Amino acid sequence: MCGIVGAVAERNITAILLEGLKRLEYRGYDSAGVAVFTHNGTLERMRRNGKVAELEQALAGEPLMGRLGIAHTRWATHGAPSERNAHPHFSGSDLAVVHNGIIENYEALREQLKGLGYVFTSDTDTEVIAHLLNHKLKDQSDLTEALKATVKELHGAYGLAVISAKQPDRLVAARSGSPLVIGLGLGENFLASDQLALRQVTDRFMYLEEGDIAEIRRDSVQIWDVNGKSVQRETVQYRDGAEAADKGEYRHYMLKEIHEQPAVVQRTLENRLGQDHVLVQAFGPQAAELFAKVRNVQIVACGTSYHAGMVARYWLESLAGIPCQVEVASEFRYRKVVVQPDTLFVSISQSGETADTLAALRNAKELGFLASLAICNVGISSLVRESDLTLLTQAGREIGVASTKAFTTQLVGLLLLTLSLGQVRGTLEAGVEAQLVEELRRLPARLGEALAMDATIEKVAELFADKHHTLFLGRGAQFPVAMEGALKLKEISYIHAEAYPAGELKHGPLALVDNDMPVVTVAPNNELLEKLKSNLQEVRARGGELIVFADEQAGMTNGEGTHVINMPHIHDVLAPILYTIPLQLLSYYVAVLKGTDVDQPRNLAKSVTVE
Ligand code: G6P
Repeated sequence: MCGIVGAVAERNITAILLEGLKRLEYRGYDSAGVAVFTHNGTLERMRRNGKVAELEQALAGEPLMGRLGIAHTRWATHGAPSERNAHPHFSGSDLAVVHNGIIENYEALREQLKGLGYVFTSDTDTEVIAHLLNHKLKDQSDLTEALKATVKELHGAYGLAVISAKQPDRLVAARSGSPLVIGLGLGENFLASDQLALRQVTDRFMYLEEGDIAEIRRDSVQIWDVNGKSVQRETVQYRDGAEAADKGEYRHYMLKEIHEQPAVVQRTLENRLGQDHVLVQAFGPQAAELFAKVRNVQIVACGTSYHAGMVARYWLESLAGIPCQVEVASEFRYRKVVVQPDTLFVSISQSGETADTLAALRNAKELGFLASLAICNVGISSLVRESDLTLLTQAGREIGVASTKAFTTQLVGLLLLTLSLGQVRGTLEAGVEAQLVEELRRLPARLGEALAMDATIEKVAELFADKHHTLFLGRGAQFPVAMEGALKLKEISYIHAEAYPAGELKHGPLALVDNDMPVVTVAPNNELLEKLKSNLQEVRARGGELIVFADEQAGMTNGEGTHVINMPHIHDVLAPILYTIPLQLLSYYVAVLKGTDVDQPRNLAKSVTVE
C-alpha cells in the first residue's frame, strides 16, 4: 500500500507534503519520510519510523525548505518498519524515489545491480528502482526517458514518484497497479496516491491510467500511455462536501463513524426508493435490461466487504431466488473459475482500490460474465471506472481502519440489489418488496435505537478486557454478522476471535469453551432461534460465559453466566444490519479499555493496494 505525495511549486512545499501524508495515513503508517530539493541545490531527506507525527516533529526541529519534493507513508511489505527501510530511497545523492506497490522481480534486479557496484542500504524492493533508474541515467540523461526505460524492467505493481537534483524542474511519475492522481494548481502541480491528500491545494485532478508515465512541471503536465504515446487525461473538478474533517465530539474516528450510520444509511437510500419498490435505475440506465437476464451472481471482495457479500448471498437466494457464490478476491483471482451462463459479477469495496478485488474484476472481464457491478464508496475509484454498473454507497469518507459505516451501507446497497433483481426477474412478490421498502425507510431510526445502547455495551465490554480468546456465533444471515463482529474485535483489541455458525459448535470449537472464553451470540427472533437456544445451552453446560444480543421479543433472559442485551425488534431480513451495530460498539469499547490505537491498529492499513 503506502501513500505518495509530490509537489513542484514556486513556494516552499514541505508543509503541503506533510499535510498530504497525514491525509494518506489510512494507506499505512509504519514509517514516513520526505525528500526535498533544497534552496542549497541539494537533495535532502528526513525519515522516521512510526507515524507521520514523528516525522512532523523531526521536521519542526530541523526544517527542510524547497520547491520540489516527494514524500511517503509506508505500510511495510519488504523489510521491517524502520528508518532505514522508510522511503524516499536514494541512489547516490541526486536521485530520490517513493514507491507504492510490490516489485516481484526485485531479488533478481538486486543481484544484477549489486554486480554493477550498487550498494543497498535497505531491505526494500523499492531501492532497486532507485538504483536501476540511476543506472539507466548513465545511457539516457533525461529523467523522464530513463524512468520509461526503468519501468520496462519492473514486474509487479507500482505507483512511483521520482525527483533528481540534476533535473529539479520536474517530478516524474509512473502508474501500474497502484493509483496516482495529479493535482493541478496555478503555477504549481502536485501528485498523490489519492486526491484527498491534495484537497488543501487544489480541486482539479487528472487521474493517471494503467501504464501511464507523467512528467509534472510547475506549469505543464505531460503524459505517455502504456505504448509510449503522448496522451491527454481528462481534468476532473472535484467537489465533495462530505469529507470528514475531524472527530468532532468523539474520542475516535471509529466511534464517530459508528454513530454516523443512521445518517449515511439514509443517504444511501436517497433517490433509490419509490413508494413501494426499489428504483432499479439507481444501478444505471441499462440495469433493468441487464438484471432481467441474470441467472447467477458471483460476489468478490476482501475483509469486511467480503462479509457484506456473505450476508447478500442469503438475501439473493431467499428473496430473489438467484444462486449466489461469494469468494474472497485473493482466492478468486488465482482460481480456475467455471462461470455459469448469465452470471452477474459483483465486486464490493469501500475504497475501490483494493488490489485483489481490482485484479479479480479484471480477470472476470476475460471469463465471460454477463456484466460487472461495483458496490463502492468512492465514485472516482478504479473499481468504479472499470465496472459496467455501479451503486455508490454514501458512507462519506471512512477514516478508522476498522470498517463500520462502509459495511452497513454496503449491506443496504446489496439489499437494494437483491430487491431490484427480484423485481425485474419477477421472482419477488410485489407485496414483499413493498414491505421491505417500508422497513428500509424505517432502518435509520432503528439504527439510532441500537446506538442508544452505547452505555450498556460499554459496560458489557468490561467482561472482555482480560480475555485472550472469544467465540462469535450466529445462524443464517447472522453468521457473517458474527464473522464481522469477530473481525472487528481482533482488528482493534488484538483479542483472538473466531466466528462459527452456531450449528458447527459441537464439531470442534466446543472443546475450547471454558470460563475463560466468552461466547458472543446474535439472536434475532427468527425460525432458527430455538435451534440457537440449544447451542447456547451447550456452551453454558461447559461453563462458557454467554453474551447474547437478542430480539426483545425472543424471550431470552439473564441468568448465571448469561448476559442478554435486548435489541429493538426488526424485520428478520434487516436484522444483519441492525445487529452489526452492537458488535461494532463492543469491539470499540473493549479496545478503549485495552488502550490500543483504535483508529490505526497495529500492522493494518485502511486501503490495501498490494496483493
Ligand atoms: C483493508 C481494511 C478493511 C477492508 C479491506 C477491504 O483490510 O483494513 O477494513 O475491509 O481492506 O477494503 P475495501 O476498500 O476493498 O472494502
